[in-house]
Amino acid sequence: MTKKIGILTAGGDSPGLNAVLRGVGKAAHAMYGMQVIGFQDGFSGMLDLRTVDLEGSILSNILTAGGTILGTSRDRPQQMLGKDGQMQDKTAEIIQTYRNLSLDALVCLGGSDAQESACHLMHNGLNVITLPVTIDNDLVETNTSVGFDTALGVAAEAIDRLHTTASSVHRIIIVEIMGKQTGWLTLGAGVAGGADVILIPELPYDEQSILKAIQERNQAGKRFSMLAVSEGAVSKDTIEFFEKAKKTNERLRSGSDQEKVASRLDQIEQHSGGTTIHLANQLEKLTGMEARITILGYLQRGGTPSATDRVLATQLGTACAAAIHSGKFGVMLGVHGANLIEPVPLEKVAGKFKTVPLDHPWIHGARMVGTNLGD
Ligand code: F6P
Repeated sequence: MTKKIGILTAGGDSPGLNAVLRGVGKAAHAMYGMQVIGFQDGFSGMLDLRTVDLEGSILSNILTAGGTILGTSRDRPQQMLGKDGQMQDKTAEIIQTYRNLSLDALVCLGGSDAQESACHLMHNGLNVITLPVTIDNDLVETNTSVGFDTALGVAAEAIDRLHTTASSVHRIIIVEIMGKQTGWLTLGAGVAGGADVILIPELPYDEQSILKAIQERNQAGKRFSMLAVSEGAVSKDTIEFFEKAKKTNERLRSGSDQEKVASRLDQIEQHSGGTTIHLANQLEKLTGMEARITILGYLQRGGTPSATDRVLATQLGTACAAAIHSGKFGVMLGVHGANLIEPVPLEKVAGKFKTVPLDHPWIHGARMVGTNLGD
């Protein structure tokens, strides 16, 4: 009997998503005679039954296209916006769509959001299989994820370009790089682009250490500095501040001094977010140099996937079709070793984040060439 599979992309988009859709769709159809139904905009398309048949010409000419032809969203089955504007649990309705369409499996493509939602649906009895697709490279049980290589290339190229302007105008340039609470992208791009300072969430930084690094460069006649900073980077001072604030607020809340609570909350606001802006201001003050910030933002997620990501997407997509054919569910297909694709139980992946180990060779390499890591 023809197997029918559903597929969706959930969470932020990532370069290579279309290449994965093509890999799954083409192999599922041509090799195993399966029917493939795409849901638009992640789980919301599954809820509203907005579908696309993923076969034939729709899968042509998308290998190199950025984004996802299906559209994506951060909706989760357990938390979706209802018609009344409130968040509601739509798990039952999503399961109903799966049953109404007589699906044999649901493929979820994405990063941590997609893995968590898929695991939730697996616990609710669906045949689910996932692939790691995120620029952040923060999924456990896989060496890499589709989109990481492209985003790394974009960020490294940005550092290269900023280098020439930084050296011409003798400034401190801070490049803010995505990656949520992990520093893979920043560390990789910082090493590849020869950043002088690399700040990642895994290593809380000390402003004095950065100051020293910049001053040493100036003394050596280098009149600019390039800083690659993760969006999730945090200073030692901020960590200390939050720890103290937490304790003080608990104490104040248990008392009756509302004015003091409000003033504490104001201070907390000043310390949260805007790491790069705060850092730029501080470094300007401390060094007397001009500092400028470039936030790469969505440039890292957009555009055509790299050749490496296209190859990975094709390997993972076709392996996914084969896994469905052999009835392998409740797993994410992870990349192990150089090129080995292996199924990993979803429970081992969902809700976990792969942070940069402090003894990682990239950290070691960065230190060996004299890069300051802010510690
Ligand atoms: O997970 C990919 C990612 O681009 C992160 O690096 C970033 O923190 C986040 O998504 C931004 O998500 P959104 O587009 O939903 O704000």
